[in-house]
Amino acid sequence: MTEQVRSLADEVEAAVSAAMAETLPAELAALDPLVRRSDHADFQSNVALSLAKRLGEKPRDVAERLRERLAGVEWITSVKVSGPGFLNIHLSDAALVERLAARLDDPRLGVPRERSGDVAVVDYSAPNVAKEMHVGHLRSTLIGDSLVRVLDFLGTDVVRQNHIGDWGTQFGMLIQYLTERPGTRWRMADLDAAAGGEGAAEAGDAVSALDSLYREARKVFDADPAFKERAQRRVVALQSGDEETVAAWREIVTESEAAFQRIYARLGVLLTLDDVAGESFYNERLQSVVDELREKGIVEKSDGAWCVFYDDIRSPEDKPVPMIVQKADGGFGYAATDLAAVRYRTLELKANRLLYVVDARQGQHFDMLFRTARRAGWLTDGIEAVHVRNGTINGPDGRPFKTRAGGTVRLADLLDDAEGRAREVVAEKNPDLTGEELDAIARGAGIAAVKYAELSTSRAKDYVFDVTRMVSFSGQTGVYLQYTHTRIASILRRAGEQASAARFDASLPLERAERELALAVDEFGAVLNSVAETLEPHRLAGWLYTLAKAYTDFYENCPVLRADVPEEIRTNRLALCRLTGDTLARGLSLLGIAAPDRM
Ligand code: ARG
Repeated sequence: MTEQVRSLADEVEAAVSAAMAETLPAELAALDPLVRRSDHADFQSNVALSLAKRLGEKPRDVAERLRERLAGVEWITSVKVSGPGFLNIHLSDAALVERLAARLDDPRLGVPRERSGDVAVVDYSAPNVAKEMHVGHLRSTLIGDSLVRVLDFLGTDVVRQNHIGDWGTQFGMLIQYLTERPGTRWRMADLDAAAGGEGAAEAGDAVSALDSLYREARKVFDADPAFKERAQRRVVALQSGDEETVAAWREIVTESEAAFQRIYARLGVLLTLDDVAGESFYNERLQSVVDELREKGIVEKSDGAWCVFYDDIRSPEDKPVPMIVQKADGGFGYAATDLAAVRYRTLELKANRLLYVVDARQGQHFDMLFRTARRAGWLTDGIEAVHVRNGTINGPDGRPFKTRAGGTVRLADLLDDAEGRAREVVAEKNPDLTGEELDAIARGAGIAAVKYAELSTSRAKDYVFDVTRMVSFSGQTGVYLQYTHTRIASILRRAGEQASAARFDASLPLERAERELALAVDEFGAVLNSVAETLEPHRLAGWLYTLAKAYTDFYENCPVLRADVPEEIRTNRLALCRLTGDTLARGLSLLGIAAPDRM
C-alpha cells in the first residue's frame, strides 16, 4: 500500500498558514507563508516581514503574534523570533521519526503522484540519420531521459518522442553515391564481419561509416556536375516514392536507428524503436498543415515561399525574419515538420505539456514554432509548450568540444574514455575486485560519472567535459553517490536480518546528525516536484549530493554496529540507513543512474 506522506515542510507551511488565518485579515492569511529550511532552525518563516509592510506594523510584533499561535502546536518544540522578525521553528524528534516511519518500506517512499492527470510529450535525443550523434545529442538524451523518469514517477502520462532527422534532400545524394559503389562497407553486419564476428564492431559504427561516406558524397557533389545531376534526380525519385530509392533510404534509416539504440542501451536510457517518430513520419501531414495555415490567414507568400512573420523577430539589418513553412519549389523543411508535430501531439496524442529538450541555439525556431501554433489554435491556454534548452559541452580549452582534427567527438569514444578512467579509480579503491566484476563496476561507474556530470549541471549552462573530475570518488560526482550507496549497503549486509527487520521507534531522541539526515530525506518529494515544474534535473542531482553528505556526516558521528551502541538505538539507525539507501537509490534511478551494492 502506498502511503501518501506530506513533507515536514508542507506541515510547517500549513501550521504557519493556520496561525496567519487566526491572527490576520482573510486576504493576508492566504499569502505564501514563506517557509524555508534554515541553518538556525529546522525551518524558518520570513512571512512577518512582508506582512508588516501591509499591516503598517513592526515585523517583530507580527512575528510575535504568529509565534504565540505556533507555540501551541503539539509537534513544534520551540519557536523563536529572531533578527528583524524571522520565525525560527524547531520540530520534535518524534515528529521527524514518525514521518520517516511512514516512508520506510513504501516503494514510493511516501511520495504522492502529484502530477497525475498531465499528459506530457517529451521530445528528446533526436539525432540525425547517417550522422554521428554529437555531444549536443548526449545532453538532450540524458536530460530528456531524466525528465521522463521523474514525470512518470509523479504520475504524469509520459509519451517519449524521438524526432530523428530522417528526411531531406541530403539522402538523395547519399543514396546515389552508395548505389554507384555497391561494394562499400557500411552496414553493421558487414562491419561486424570485417571486425571478426557478430557484435565485434563498435556501437554506432554504421552511422560513423555513413557519416564519412556522406562527407565524401558531398565532395563529389560539389566537384562533379554529372554526379550532382544524378543526385538531384535521386532526390526527386525519393520524394516521389520510387520503390528502389525508398528501399535504399529505409535501409539507411534502419541501420542508423539500430546504431542509436546500441548507444541508448549503453547509456541505459529508456528510448526504444517504438518512440521514434522522425521527420518523415509527418510527410503525409505537411500539405494539410500548410493548407490550414493558409485558410486561417497565418502564412503569406514571400518570394514564392509560404512564410509566417512576427513583428518583433528581425534580422540585425532590421528585416523581418520569417518562419518558412513551404519553400518556393514546393519542398517542406524542419519548420513544417515541427508544426505538424505540434498539431499531432496536441490533437492526436492529447498532450497538455509539450517539452522539447533541444540545444539552446534552436531558441528562435521554437519561439516561432510555438507562436505560430498558438495563432493556429493548436496550442491553447491549457497547453504548455516549453523549449527545454540545453547549453553546449565544451572541450578542455573551453570551446565547443571537437577532436584535435576539428571533427565531431564520437560519443562512443567519450564513453570508452570515461569507462577506462573509472576502471583505474575503482581498481585502486578496491584491489579485491578483478575480472568480470571489475569490468561491470567500471562500466557502470563510467556511465554514471558521465550522466551525473551532465545532470548536476544547470542545463542551460555550458560545461567542460573533464573525465578525470567526473570519475573522482570525492566531490560532487556520480561515483561519490554510488559509493555512498555501497557504504549503506555494506552496513545493512553486515547487520543481516536485524537490518531488514528494523523499524523506527518515535520515542527515542535523535542526535544532531540524525536530525539533519531525517530532514534531508523528507525533502525528496518536494525536490521531485520542483524538477517537474522547472524541468531542471540538476535540482535532484544537487539534492542527492546533499543527502549523501548528510549520510556521510551521520556515518562519521553516529555509530550503528559498534558493540557499545544500545540495541534500540541501533535499530533506529539501521532503519534510517535503510530509508536513506532506498531514497538514494530511487533518486539515482530517476536520473537514470544505477546504485550498485558494491564497488
Ligand atoms: N534533429 C535535430 C538536431 O539534431 C533535433 C530535433 C529536435 N526536435 C524537434 N522537434 N525539432 O538538431
